[in-house]
Amino acid sequence: MPSPPKLQTSYDAPPPVVPSDSAHSTGHDSALDVSSEPPHVGAGPAATALELDDAAADDAYSTTDSGYDADSLIGDDTQSLTSYITNYVYENGRQYHSYRAGSYWGPNDDHANELQDLAHHMYLITLNGRLHLAPIESTAKILDAGTGTGIWAIDMADKYPAAHVTGVDLSAIQPAFVPPNCTFEIDDVTLPWTYPADHFDFIHVRELFGCIPDWDAFLAECFAHTAPGGWIEVVEHSVEPVSRDETVGPGHFFAEWGRTVVSCGEAFGKTFLIWREAKERLLKAGYVDVAEVRYEWPMNGWSKEPRMKELGKWNQLRLHDGIEGFMLRLLTGPGGKSYESAQVFLAQMRHALRDTSSHGYLPGTVVYGRKPTL
Ligand SMILES: C[S@@+](CC[C@H](N)C(=O)[O-])C[C@H]1O[C@@H](n2cnc3c(N)ncnc32)[C@H](O)[C@@H]1O
Repeated sequence: MPSPPKLQTSYDAPPPVVPSDSAHSTGHDSALDVSSEPPHVGAGPAATALELDDAAADDAYSTTDSGYDADSLIGDDTQSLTSYITNYVYENGRQYHSYRAGSYWGPNDDHANELQDLAHHMYLITLNGRLHLAPIESTAKILDAGTGTGIWAIDMADKYPAAHVTGVDLSAIQPAFVPPNCTFEIDDVTLPWTYPADHFDFIHVRELFGCIPDWDAFLAECFAHTAPGGWIEVVEHSVEPVSRDETVGPGHFFAEWGRTVVSCGEAFGKTFLIWREAKERLLKAGYVDVAEVRYEWPMNGWSKEPRMKELGKWNQLRLHDGIEGFMLRLLTGPGGKSYESAQVFLAQMRHALRDTSSHGYLPGTVVYGRKPTL
């Protein structure tokens, strides 16, 4: 499998982030300086399920690889992964994961994966080249829950050679050749975790909207497996475009789009509203020093502000090319639409995305918090 396209990983302009909790979000700037503690060696007993590290690279997708027979870290059924991994499911011309089939709305084909990597590029612009805001140590044991193509996990492993990064996903879409301190596993993060308690110094969650049936239960697992003093970061955006002026009112197609995505998520049993609930839910899970940083992604290049214009153009491309993958399964499943009417709906959205007289944007949040020390 080819490596995902490597997009820009640094960006010099200041970030378009809007601290909503200045007491925390500004106070942690210095924490981005990593320490010089000795390297952490490996992921300990955790890294056994499906490893795509150097040792496994030659035969990463072989169904005879003994790695497939190892015990799972999180769930209880990785013994059966051999057939699940590559027997992908095909629906309406798109390829979907087969392990825990039907539980995730997005395809895992090359087209969808390229758009995930485009979103990673947008997050780097948004965070001024940073991969995270939580003030972690350079030797951290890191978990990327729902890692996707693994692009964030790989960048983190490159940035912190003394850390160890574990990426977990339903799909084996990660590249075979990765930094030695990066491990990928195929598992379902909504199953009870079997990692050791208090294990991870940093848990990263990005774009698991519409993926988690019970966020309180999921965050309770995160909390139980965060080391005392360790951090969690949840990065999510809204699916409901809004505007500060009247150009995106209740009658605008963007509003219908937003209502439809949210209602499909509710019918699917997995909310898309986590972006605005994350701070409260982290506090409820027991995290402290919880900070929320807000950002905005314009729907196209309507903004006069250069960085927002750039973000808007990327977002327009991401959505224009990505909405079939984002929504086809949801629209034709819980949304109850035929394939044909779903395609009409998607075409209406593409049309709306081209109109720069509408000043729509998607709000988003980066929320991070610390597990108290004992
Ligand atoms: C929108 S993508 C985001 C990928 C990555 N976090 C990023 O920001 O680049 C969501 C990913 O979560 C994975 N996912 C969804 N539900 C999951 C679950 N229950 N367990 C593990 N991974 C899951 C999907 O397979 C997909 O790769």
